[in-house]
Amino acid sequence: MAAPTEALVPVAGAPDRAPQVREMFDTLAPTYDRANRIISMGLDQGWRRQAIAALGDARRGEVMDLCAGTLDLSVMLCAAGAQRVHAVDFAEQMLKAGAHKIPAGHDVRLITADARELPFEDNAVDGIIAGFGLRNVPELHRAAAECARVLRPGGRLVVLEFFQPESLMSKVLQGSYNRFVMPAIGGLVSGFGPAYRYLAGSIDAFMTRGQFERLLLDNGFAETSGREMFPPVASLVVGRMPGVAHV
Ligand SMILES: C[S@@+](CC[C@H](N)C(=O)[O-])C[C@H]1O[C@@H](n2cnc3c(N)ncnc32)[C@H](O)[C@@H]1O
Repeated sequence: MAAPTEALVPVAGAPDRAPQVREMFDTLAPTYDRANRIISMGLDQGWRRQAIAALGDARRGEVMDLCAGTLDLSVMLCAAGAQRVHAVDFAEQMLKAGAHKIPAGHDVRLITADARELPFEDNAVDGIIAGFGLRNVPELHRAAAECARVLRPGGRLVVLEFFQPESLMSKVLQGSYNRFVMPAIGGLVSGFGPAYRYLAGSIDAFMTRGQFERLLLDNGFAETSGREMFPPVASLVVGRMPGVAHV
């Protein structure tokens, strides 16, 4: 029989694992930031800064931080001069755990919602950034189509993610990182080992960066580009909407 904590942990690839994913992140919320810094050896914040830069001028407009978690990217968007940030996540405890980090005087709205059904009008934002969240979303085509719907003409989607590795170098690096470092350290810091085993396993079950770029093109984006970060563990994908941006 599964231990009580294991019952919360979704099975990677299961049809609608969303309710369990939400419950799992709500449970991890108090220890999420500390575990993240240790697991990535502090590299995660540098990756996030590069993701913000990849938004281009859109970072100074109205931006959605999708799968915002504990709001690290929202805080960086404030520092980058975003006019307004919509931080969207379906795990309310993750948003609450990060709320204290938002600097005073910035317009950051916390919205509890599923990435597959965004409570926004069409053409609502200049940019969307999603850090390490989309691989947890089932029916990812629905989230991609929602992003295309709410982006303004010329808008940008920037995705920072652990895609399934393709090159030998990233297979070796990412494989050892996922199988050993992430579950061991994440389990130790959070006291919730099965969740970090799921997070590591979800990378193996996810698509390659090329497949993800194809998904964006099939769901309304006009062009995409992608690159590996250093070290080649995480990657960045940028999707651009047709039309001309006005920020
Ligand atoms: C690994 S955390 C990343 C948080 C943050 N973006 C960061 O850079 O640290 C993934 C987040 O995605 C959220 N998430 C997963 N599936 C989601 C969905 N279907 N809709 C909205 N949020 C989702 C989780 O609740 C969690 O807070």
